[in-house]
Amino acid sequence: MNIQLLNQNISDAKSDISLVYLTAELLKKNKNKKALKLAGFSATQDSICFLHNKNTLVCGVDSFESDDIRSVSAVAIKALNKTNYKSANVNIDDKNLIFALVEGFVLGGYTYDVYKSKKEKTALKEISLIYTKDDYKSAIKLFSDAVIVADATCFTRDIVNTTPEDLNPVTFADLAKKLAKENKLGCKILDEKGLKKENCTSMLAVGRASRHESQLIHLTYKPKNPKKIISLIGKGLTYDSGGLSLKPGASMVTMKMDKAGACAVLGIIKAASEMKLDVEIHAFVGAVENMIGGDAYKPDDVLVSRSGKTIEVRNTDAEGRLVLADVLDFAQDKVKADYMFDFATLTGACLVAVGQYTTGVMGHSSRLKHSVGKAATASGELTASLPFNKHLKKQIKSEIADICNISNKPYGGAITAGLFLDAFIKEENKEKWLHFDIAGSAYTESPWDVNVYGGTGASVRFMSNFLKNI
Ligand code: BES
Ligand code: ZN
Ligand code: ZN
Repeated sequence: MNIQLLNQNISDAKSDISLVYLTAELLKKNKNKKALKLAGFSATQDSICFLHNKNTLVCGVDSFESDDIRSVSAVAIKALNKTNYKSANVNIDDKNLIFALVEGFVLGGYTYDVYKSKKEKTALKEISLIYTKDDYKSAIKLFSDAVIVADATCFTRDIVNTTPEDLNPVTFADLAKKLAKENKLGCKILDEKGLKKENCTSMLAVGRASRHESQLIHLTYKPKNPKKIISLIGKGLTYDSGGLSLKPGASMVTMKMDKAGACAVLGIIKAASEMKLDVEIHAFVGAVENMIGGDAYKPDDVLVSRSGKTIEVRNTDAEGRLVLADVLDFAQDKVKADYMFDFATLTGACLVAVGQYTTGVMGHSSRLKHSVGKAATASGELTASLPFNKHLKKQIKSEIADICNISNKPYGGAITAGLFLDAFIKEENKEKWLHFDIAGSAYTESPWDVNVYGGTGASVRFMSNFLKNI
């Protein structure tokens, strides 16, 4: 489906159907209120009603705020995709709604059919946003950024949705190389030989029982005179079976999504480079598969991480932090960044703490947490801050090594995982770093908001927005 922004002058280009957004208040004055009432439509949020004889699709909203427009647009596009209308349009006079509309249509209309032998076809070929004000130039810039961010979110979803057989650490590295070539990014990849040279022993231990070699991917977007330098670090577990601390069958299903942090990082650097942002971005991905076998790492092992810190392994299912420990250390050595953000489907405990829709945010800088939180709210993504404290920190002490990979108490698991990562952040970077636990927000098996079954592309929208306004 093609999406375009037209201005007033060419708006007489006709579409098969027009979308009209109504609140309950506006419904009272609408010329079609009788027909709509007969159809049982009362303009509640996310309700829609076709008036086929008027070539109109009426969409109910609580308000004209972005969140409400975005959400009902996702409902509308799904319904339109089931009809035989070939083109649709919507009139807008507020350019601040361009992002919400584009995201609603592109993200809500997303489908992933790579593994279906019969692909469903939709008649809808084109959707036009008709901007009725004069400042078309600034509107078109907003529109093109919105399309870039929405497409990057779909790109991230596509990778998350790819099966672990098709997307393993090696094919992940190939995909990163392809992105680098297409978007003119720098690209360095370390295979297991390179990882050994870099002393990434902790990361290597996690991938040891896999038949795919672990890979550390480093992509760079370097504009002229960048305002800031940012490092993005992603957990890229292409499959998390739990290792010898094997996951129960039901919890193992969906663990292809354990690479979502890494997929988000690629989506963000893709969006930033296409929007030509004036910030330098480094994306680091630890691509590893956590499997079982005679060569598997074990509970009771002690690993020497790249930083020199020793880690007692008590559970091989707490593997993401072991990979990130080395990738975070590597990233800090290679790049002196102004900000450092990691993205990881790190803990089931994060879902318990904040629910499955929200990204958990952890770090030391209240200011940074606040500005990222603001960017997230504006982008329509949900985040919540989970506070560190010294008592929880004691729970990851080890009797035999410098730190333990699991907590000795069952509560606060998202935070103790964040505190584990904190142990690998150098003193000078403490205030520059944030950790995002996207275990809940990155994947869904029931649709919500603009998200459909599968990967959601969590973090791409809010981080692109943060980087844009830095
Ligand atoms: N990849 C999982 C976390 C996860 C759980 C992501 C559910 C998405 C949905 C992670 O590697 C893991 O298994 N964590 C353990 C940690 C525990 C062993 C301390 C968990 O959350 O149970
Ligand atoms: Zn795990
Ligand atoms: Zn995991």
